Amino acid sequence: MKRRMPWLSYVSVSLLITSIACNTQKKASVSPDKALVQTFNKEFTDAAAQYKILAKDLPADKFPKTYFPATGKHEYSNSGWWCSGFYPGTLLYLYEQTKDQALYTEAMRILEPLKKEQYNKSTHDLGFMMFCSFGNANIMQPKPEYKEILINSAKSLITRFDPKVGCIKSWDSKKAEFLVIIDNMMNLELLFWATQVTGDSTYYKIAVTHANTTIQNHFRPDYSSYHVINYNPETGAVQQKRTAQGAADESAWARGQAWGLYGFTVMYRATKEQKYLDQANHIAKFILSNPNLPADKVPYWDFNAPGIPNALRDASAAAITASALLELQGYVDADKKKEYFGAAETMLRSLSSPAYKAKPGTNGGFIIEHCVGHLPAKSEVDVPLTYADYYYVEAMKRYKEL
Ligand code: GLY
Repeated sequence: MKRRMPWLSYVSVSLLITSIACNTQKKASVSPDKALVQTFNKEFTDAAAQYKILAKDLPADKFPKTYFPATGKHEYSNSGWWCSGFYPGTLLYLYEQTKDQALYTEAMRILEPLKKEQYNKSTHDLGFMMFCSFGNANIMQPKPEYKEILINSAKSLITRFDPKVGCIKSWDSKKAEFLVIIDNMMNLELLFWATQVTGDSTYYKIAVTHANTTIQNHFRPDYSSYHVINYNPETGAVQQKRTAQGAADESAWARGQAWGLYGFTVMYRATKEQKYLDQANHIAKFILSNPNLPADKVPYWDFNAPGIPNALRDASAAAITASALLELQGYVDADKKKEYFGAAETMLRSLSSPAYKAKPGTNGGFIIEHCVGHLPAKSEVDVPLTYADYYYVEAMKRYKEL
């Protein structure tokens, strides 16, 4: 999602001047390939047809999770699963592009069972769940009800913030642990929105504190990130840096790098603080100059996966990265702009090719194939995933709107 959130009281005059100077350099433009835009228009239509297939078999109060081509079976979730917002979010993006009313109707239907999650205080994923869904719905057709749901969601999310640690807790675990994952950067956009509409800076300050703590502890000198930081809840000290979904504690799990890139790009959009732009640029450099990034720019599921070049790819990481780069290119100088735009274009060309895009009528109605959810747990391995579809559609929309 993309919203402008000027919170000028937090921006010093000098930063503002720097930012204006930078903006002048940024005028060099990139030009979307007209033929590719045509391809994307066709992709939106194909994707809409796929999502109708997905909708057809969906049990009334369930949300799509994945599909196993070998057995022809879907896996569904309840509304509390971290991915529940992506299905309505994708339907809304596709409705916006195709004006197919059936997609809007289905989005409105599935928002009903999702509503109750506004009070869910047991997850940090409320940004994904509520902002990709109700946030998009509220942009298309602002309603007081959506606003209330989103504010309640932000209120629920900040109950997980601990000032001693300086973070929002990601996963509940043992009493002696306070676990924060890099993915949590994606939930901060909801908080910026909440400050903007309520005028209450609490949400903003929590988002900034969480991001600053993350910069301090989640990154290695090469700007790759750990997946999980385990803080001491009493002192806030780091007691462990490790992985959960990556190949090893010291590896760079591909989707984690994508979440960080997207998250710090949003941080810069929301605050206009140079250090967040620097962080996003550093992460982009780690990804794009990584010797293990394949030529089609769809990452292996981990940049240090065993068995490269025969390791599995994670198309979801490519979709998230492409969408983030298409925003980030708007904030940087001409050389980086060209690099980011070109890389995002390559990723989208790859994802829209038969190598990753499912043949119409297959893949259980999902759009993209070949994603990896949680390989160490042998869960969701080389399958479609709702968030790959969501960020793929978002990235095509961003490309088209440039
Ligand atoms: N947020 C969990 C994941 O990226 O798999």
